[in-house]
Amino acid sequence: MTPRDMRFRPAYTGGMTKLEKANRAIEAATVDPVYRHRYHAMPPAGWMNDPNGLCRFKGEYHLFYQHNPYAPRWGKMHWGHSVSRDFVRWEDWPIALAPDKRYESFLGCFSGSALVVGGGASGGGELKLMYTAVSAFGQRQCAAASTDGRTFVKDDANPLIGARQLPRGRSLLNFRDPKLFEREGIFYCLVASSNSLNRSSEGELLLFRSDNFRDWEYVGVTYSCPESPMLECPDLSIVGGADLLLFSPTELPRRGDEFQNYHSAVCSHGELDLSSGRFAGGPYRELDSGFDFYAPQTLVAEDGRVVMIAWMQMWKRSMPTEAHGWAGAMTLPRELSLVGDRLFQKPVREIESYRRDRVAYGGFVVEGSRRSPAGELRLPGVEGSSIELLVEADVSRSERFELRVFCPAKGLEGSERGAVIAWDRATHRLSFDRGAAGEPIFDLLDGRKSGAVRYRALDPEGGILRLRVFLDVSSVEVFAQGGEITMTGNVYPRPGDVGVEFASEGPAMLRSVEKYDIEPS
Ligand code: FRU
Repeated sequence: MTPRDMRFRPAYTGGMTKLEKANRAIEAATVDPVYRHRYHAMPPAGWMNDPNGLCRFKGEYHLFYQHNPYAPRWGKMHWGHSVSRDFVRWEDWPIALAPDKRYESFLGCFSGSALVVGGGASGGGELKLMYTAVSAFGQRQCAAASTDGRTFVKDDANPLIGARQLPRGRSLLNFRDPKLFEREGIFYCLVASSNSLNRSSEGELLLFRSDNFRDWEYVGVTYSCPESPMLECPDLSIVGGADLLLFSPTELPRRGDEFQNYHSAVCSHGELDLSSGRFAGGPYRELDSGFDFYAPQTLVAEDGRVVMIAWMQMWKRSMPTEAHGWAGAMTLPRELSLVGDRLFQKPVREIESYRRDRVAYGGFVVEGSRRSPAGELRLPGVEGSSIELLVEADVSRSERFELRVFCPAKGLEGSERGAVIAWDRATHRLSFDRGAAGEPIFDLLDGRKSGAVRYRALDPEGGILRLRVFLDVSSVEVFAQGGEITMTGNVYPRPGDVGVEFASEGPAMLRSVEKYDIEPS
């Protein structure tokens, strides 16, 4: 304990440390399993938001996350911890960080990242975490380290980056989410901030550097964005030879079909100049065109793939699982690649080894819609709530092609219930409509039902629509056209709504349909 900590008297915890108490709370908690995912990372109980400290350490993938072990609502933040060898089966490990220091006594341990220092990622080395500690003073960056990947010791010199390093015109009120990286033997840290000198409060990313991980100095402004007051959770990786910058701007104004959610997650690729700190890149673009995708982070897998995971939820929206003792999950981990200036996302290939019970069809014409339901199509064996669907359809003569999932089971057809993924010729758009998919989701800001449809421009090349869709009990992830478009969202279907239906106004040729159950156990 440092003298400063000794003055700080933590609340009485019955003889247990805060970490022990938090882990006990999780052990004692119960959850209703009805909407629990089968193959997505989620908290054992309580609340989860942003992925934190995503990394590979000693041959395992570590996913930490913003966690409230005491309630399925946001609260004083801890770092929950899940570990996987293949990105699909996640094991719950004890909570890694609890807010037990004075410098994090107000709101806890906010988001941050990890870096493996020395020893190589599968050999020895130390796992270093950098996170934002929130006290009454504001937000400052702190470090913790571990040699076994399981127990973490906070740095005696914390906070490491605070008022002393902060450039003029910025404040500790909004200074968070450090992203660590190392280049040419020097440690760097990218931190989200807000330029409060500017009356419009422009969101910025600031770069800091250190030779020894203890003493940090300010380098410069990496990125600024006049459209958003805060660029939360920055991430930096190298994809296709370019620096790929990810960040999550708050309250971006809507732009056509883009940025429909309360907050957004975007990417830009270009080049980071380490001496000035400046990032020169193309315009930022929305990473996912669905409802629930925020604060993505990346890691480099053992074979060099850059893999991204995001929080599969959105702020300011009702969460039906709150009543079930848990809230929040992560997206499927996605492999990133850059083709020209287009970013592609593909589900990690490891998921394919969990495929079971393949059902496949090819060469059907679908011609039936809500107006002429006789031609709507159900295919025997193509159904389920924990499945992967691969659909290739020639839509060159279709006005509107629909894939409906989470519909009432066979024998109960004809209901409007279900989530609808549709391509529409007149508007040249792909859409994801969850308005009739089960329990409604409400916008907490004004109490209205949150806009239930999301759109993304799409002109399928050669008239061929290619959809790969993952359903996992209460989630839908759409990867369209080889992963150039993704649409992610939660749905809360009625029990037994496992039906899958195809429909088309005007003929659509289903060239192939494949269904796999995804069975991680
Ligand atoms: C983003 C965020 C971060 C912050 C964390 C707190 O979702 O607001 O900026 O560190 O959540 O839980």
